[in-house]
Amino acid sequence: MTKPFLPPTIRDIAANLDQFEGKEVVIRGWLYAKRSSGKIHFLQVRDGTDTIQCVMGKNDVPEAVFLDADHLSQESSLAVTGTVRRDKRSPLGFEVGATGLQVFHRAEPYPISPKEHGVAFLMDHRHLWLRSQRQHKIMRVRHTIIRAIRDYLDSNGFVLIDAPIFTPNPCEGTTNLFEVGYFDDKAYLTQSGQLYMEAGAMAHGRVYCFGPAFRAEKSKTRRHLTEFWMVEPEIAYLEFDQLLDLIEDFLCSIVSRVMNEHERDLVALGRNIEALAKIQKPFPRLHHKEAVALINKAIQDGTADTRPAGSERKAEGTEEAEAERPKRTHLASEGSDFGGDDETILTRMYDRPVMVHRYPQEVKAFYMKRDPKDDTRALGVDVLAPEGYGEIVGGGQREESLETLLSRIDHHQLSREDFAWYTDLRRFGTVPHSGFGLGVERSVAWLCGLHHVRETNPFPRMLERLSP
Ligand code: 4AD
Ligand code: MG
Repeated sequence: MTKPFLPPTIRDIAANLDQFEGKEVVIRGWLYAKRSSGKIHFLQVRDGTDTIQCVMGKNDVPEAVFLDADHLSQESSLAVTGTVRRDKRSPLGFEVGATGLQVFHRAEPYPISPKEHGVAFLMDHRHLWLRSQRQHKIMRVRHTIIRAIRDYLDSNGFVLIDAPIFTPNPCEGTTNLFEVGYFDDKAYLTQSGQLYMEAGAMAHGRVYCFGPAFRAEKSKTRRHLTEFWMVEPEIAYLEFDQLLDLIEDFLCSIVSRVMNEHERDLVALGRNIEALAKIQKPFPRLHHKEAVALINKAIQDGTADTRPAGSERKAEGTEEAEAERPKRTHLASEGSDFGGDDETILTRMYDRPVMVHRYPQEVKAFYMKRDPKDDTRALGVDVLAPEGYGEIVGGGQREESLETLLSRIDHHQLSREDFAWYTDLRRFGTVPHSGFGLGVERSVAWLCGLHHVRETNPFPRMLERLSP
């Protein structure tokens, strides 16, 4: 059970009902909702872990307490003392027969009510919106995804190596860098910890970093934040095909953990559980050229499905999901990267994540190793989530030859001097190595079935949002 200095929560009580039945408990929390008949108040009290019904009969408490409870506003903070009673109608299997009430604070009229609010209003009140049941569930799933990620890596011999946030050089292109002042100089907020993980892998073999990454994304899309969380494993002596096996196994372990621990939450969020149950090995692996051919065939046949993720259902904050999607007419190209639409069309053909590999090298980062069989292709992979959720993982094998890497740095008009520390890794015992990055917010959106990533981060940062 819990530590003696941590009083039992609603979840603790629900998990240990045999022990708590008939006992007195104190539920400390906030009033979520209230219903009254003349003789009974039904108080829905949330304590941060869950919400429980506290039933207060007129004859069970002093008259002043009963009157007190009559005028309580939503989100008033309070402590209800009462007896735990089993109740089959409760989703938690119990209710509390109230015998006492202490009001800490009578809340001002609460801006968020059960009626519908617009997304902008809810985002402006994100600090309060987090208390809503739906947002509460999403944050709990997010936490489980993060735990699943850490547990997988920690139990497979990976060492956590934290990467810096202030960095002197770009990693993922120069167009979306956040530049910040650094005393008399400048620095960039990290776009990815990968380059540092390559150093870590040469020291420890298997490493990962897990932290925020920053991209000055000037476009408003449902998949992009300017600050997002990414886990980046990097492995020495791992080649491309083994990397794909690792990513597949890693993703399956995360999905099954979330399914096991959150089935009830996912159902409440309106997530199609059957679709998640299909996330099993093997994932389809498509050469970029094959993927382009499939997309173009669908466009030409008129079967291309461009419905955005989550548009099958209407839910809080998804009004764009209702918007008509224009028909896609122009074709995808073997020489270009995918756009959001291409990913949607492709992933709507499969019931599990699709691993697209060997993109044209020109559209990929300077550090990617080229396919030894086709110099125009990079040994990189994007994993695209099914149902139109888009890219959740980007990774690949890294160029390990000093000469080739230097010529790539020149070709990308980057400075050899800035990257001297990185190219050093190719001077002192270079080895084949590979790694990938998984975006937490995209993963939460996919697993919870959310149309937009803005609900997946507690305080999302986007082009037009830096507050609260
Ligand atoms: O594909 P990306 O850009 O890959 C890298 O940064 C590599 N250096 C990772 C590596 O190999 N170590 O980003 C990886 C993932 C994407 O697949 C996506 O899930 C997420 O990070 N991501 C974003 N998520 C939200 N908002 C954004 N603006 C994102 N950009 C990338
Ligand atoms: Mg990518």
